[in-house]
Amino acid sequence: MPDLFSEFTLKDATLKNRIAVSPMCQYSAVDGVVDEWHLVNLASRAVGGAGLVIAEASAVSPEGRITPGDAGLWNDTQAQAYQPIVRAIEKHGAVAGIQIAHAGRKASANRPWEGDDHMAADDPRAWQPIAPSDNPFGANLPRAPRAMTLDDIARVRDAFAGAARRALQAGFKWLELHFAHGYLGQSFFSPLANRRTDAYGGSFENRARFLLETLAAVRAVWPERLPLTARLGVLDYVPGEQPLEESIELIRRMRAGGMDLIDVSMGFNTPDISRVPWGEPGFLGPVAKRIRDEAGLPTATSWNIREAQTADAMVRSGQVDLVMLGKGILADPYWPYHAAQALGRKAPQNVLPVQYAAWLKRG
Ligand SMILES: Cc1cc2nc3c(=O)[nH]c(=O)nc-3n(C[C@H](O)[C@H](O)[C@H](O)COP(=O)(O)O)c2cc1C
Repeated sequence: MPDLFSEFTLKDATLKNRIAVSPMCQYSAVDGVVDEWHLVNLASRAVGGAGLVIAEASAVSPEGRITPGDAGLWNDTQAQAYQPIVRAIEKHGAVAGIQIAHAGRKASANRPWEGDDHMAADDPRAWQPIAPSDNPFGANLPRAPRAMTLDDIARVRDAFAGAARRALQAGFKWLELHFAHGYLGQSFFSPLANRRTDAYGGSFENRARFLLETLAAVRAVWPERLPLTARLGVLDYVPGEQPLEESIELIRRMRAGGMDLIDVSMGFNTPDISRVPWGEPGFLGPVAKRIRDEAGLPTATSWNIREAQTADAMVRSGQVDLVMLGKGILADPYWPYHAAQALGRKAPQNVLPVQYAAWLKRG
């Protein structure tokens, strides 16, 4: 039975442990180009001992950014800027992954620390968001998107494939499609967001279409030997959402379409997050286990996994193959080392660089 410090092999990627850095936007790129900040942020988590480091949601097209500071992968300059970051992550023993994304109706927002709301439509930095239909998200993101035409749908699907190709050029070995958190892929799937009446809205088959077509376009350019994964919002904890069974069926179809692992997350298709069991450590673990059992795919999940014991128990009990850490590993890049200590590992297994290990093992 694997535990938190067991190796994990998926296709040609072998992670030295089950600890992954969840993708986290830094809102600090210029024209989508990452820089020294992103290098230090990501490489320091690799130095800290995580087995997998996933770079933030990187937009597949300019209008797919959440904010003007989002990273992008819609041109080759952006891909080249990621190359030294990939090298630094790998040099420190982690597998380098990246998430590619389109923000849909949540696009054209201020950075969280500058307001976390839509930019005013007349702000010179603002742009027109696009989405499955023209209904706005509401609350802090009130701007109505433009409903996508069939040409828009084909263009964005192809942009995902273009970004995947550039992720490969940059050297990434693990790719995650962002189909969660109320962004574009998620909002096609959710009846809370998608009000289309054509082949991309309404029935389960129609709401799943954009995600499955995008997966197929990406799988065609992303090598078979490398892991292709998706983060899917499987539930919203809001009345009117799709039943969990629909999410599981979508994941089964993704598996048939070449998906290698599913990163279980939430929908965030409405501003109402009052029913989410925030206080419960690892609350998505049982949901991930059900998906792992019923869809037959390896799983990962995040959300309120802070303690080493919680993370270890989630792996040992077969809920997940990997834990994705967000705020916990932001606060402590050495979370893996501290977890090894908390779990009573005498010699932390590969969680410290040799430059530190000899000194710190002496206590
Ligand atoms: C600063 C920050 C940026 C984030 N950016 C992304 C992102 O780019 N893509 C994504 O799927 N989730 C993003 N998230 C969500 C995290 O990946 C993670 O799923 C979430 O924070 C829950 O894990 P935690 O409870 O350990 O923080 C972000 C979270 C934070 C705190």
